[in-house]
Amino acid sequence: MTLTIALSKGRLLSGAEAIFTAAGMGFPPQDSRRLIIDVGDLRFLFVKDMDVPVYVEYGVADAGICGSDVLLEAGSDVLVPLDLGYGRCRMVLAAPPDRGFDEVWPTTLRVATKYPRMALGFFEARGLAAEVVKLQGSVEIAPGLGLADCIVDMVETGRTLRENGLVVVAEMASTSARLVVNRASDHTKRADVASLIARLRSHL
Ligand code: PRP
Repeated sequence: MTLTIALSKGRLLSGAEAIFTAAGMGFPPQDSRRLIIDVGDLRFLFVKDMDVPVYVEYGVADAGICGSDVLLEAGSDVLVPLDLGYGRCRMVLAAPPDRGFDEVWPTTLRVATKYPRMALGFFEARGLAAEVVKLQGSVEIAPGLGLADCIVDMVETGRTLRENGLVVVAEMASTSARLVVNRASDHTKRADVASLIARLRSHL
């Protein structure tokens, strides 16, 4: 086995399949429930999106694909040699339109999010005190139910925000799928890692 690649089964998976297939490297069948699958010289691990940089940082995987939102949140010590250019989203602060965010922002507020590090960093930079309520998903319902004043979350089409009565208050970051590489693998498996990067890059 030359390289182990960590992927998540979420919304970035079909783009990963498209690039690996176009680059002639093969890809695991999507109807399998196995979480470790060997295809040719590659071993694929399927893990939760937030865990991709963890597997790569610890060297269990040599490389992986995850969103830059996950990298910003995880703060993992990995190399990020390639923006794969798909899975583009925006990280935003959103709230119900009547919560006064278009005037003077509340000085203490509660924010529901899957991204506590991003949320706290955003509010700290503005000198605002925020309490984070960490949720695993469906954060858009939190303000309407009184769990939080606002949310920090990813927006792709904007439909989930719209259909749950929220508007964008501030844009925090643009995100997309990134190739991440383990620092040690970049030395010990230099030729294989360089070949992976080159093959993926030529099929972006
Ligand atoms: C993401 C994000 C939003 C939604 C945005 O959730 O957290 O809820 O997609 O997409 P839209 O702007 O196109 O409506 P995801 O489906 O990844 O599930 P999650 O609730 O587990 O975060």
